Amino acid sequence: MPASQPTIEEFERKINDENLGFYQKIEIERFSEFAKIIGLETGVDIDEIYEIIKKDKVLVEIGAGYGRAIQALLKKGFKERVYAVERVNHLVNYMRHLFVEQENVKLILKDVKYLKLPEKADTILWVWSGILELSLKEQEEALLQLKEQLKPHGKIIIETPYQDVKFIGKKSTDNYIRFETDWGKIEAYLSTFQDIKLMSEKVCFNKLEKKLYKTNKDLTRVFYILS
Ligand SMILES: C[S@@+](CC[C@H](N)C(=O)[O-])C[C@H]1O[C@@H](n2cnc3c(N)ncnc32)[C@H](O)[C@@H]1O
Repeated sequence: MPASQPTIEEFERKINDENLGFYQKIEIERFSEFAKIIGLETGVDIDEIYEIIKKDKVLVEIGAGYGRAIQALLKKGFKERVYAVERVNHLVNYMRHLFVEQENVKLILKDVKYLKLPEKADTILWVWSGILELSLKEQEEALLQLKEQLKPHGKIIIETPYQDVKFIGKKSTDNYIRFETDWGKIEAYLSTFQDIKLMSEKVCFNKLEKKLYKTNKDLTRVFYILS
């Protein structure tokens, strides 16, 4: 059954700062196990969209975590500049070691909500559900700010679960996904196509494409490409 429109209270909620502790305490091994569980560890998401981004000169990944997606990009042969934006110290330190020899990978320790990039981007990637860790209002505000940091023909590529979650967390009827571990919890809002469409119109993108794909665990997930 399609979810109804959120109430004003639901729309106004903020969740992103409450999710910080989960990633401050997560061990890299556990983090990558989660990627394995949903079948993203080898970077099938990046394989899937590589054609669209391979000629870009400036790429940005929001919430780069332990560098999974950036590694996948480098494996594909991407040689231009990639900014990895992440707000958690230990994750940025981990990536600093991982990408020590990659001059084209630039790390930015920053919260996306207050991000100001050093240059305009061709594409901003927000993969593996990153955007969901913000409430709908926070998502909209972040998209508005990110759009201003794109080149005129730039795009934002968002990747999320498709309609429901299977292996990690549980979705309730209000479209919130809740996931608890012994070191912390995550609350996330699974934006629907309609949510993304509305936000993309408000933020003045001209085009929104939706593309389904399957992960290594046969899980259907979706890309939204805003341009
Ligand atoms: C599910 S992980 C995805 C990791 C990575 N994008 C990948 O695909 O492997 C979400 C990441 O977003 C980061 N994150 C969440 N909120 C953020 C914010 N406001 N600013 C920057 N990063 C954020 C988290 O710390 C976490 O590393």
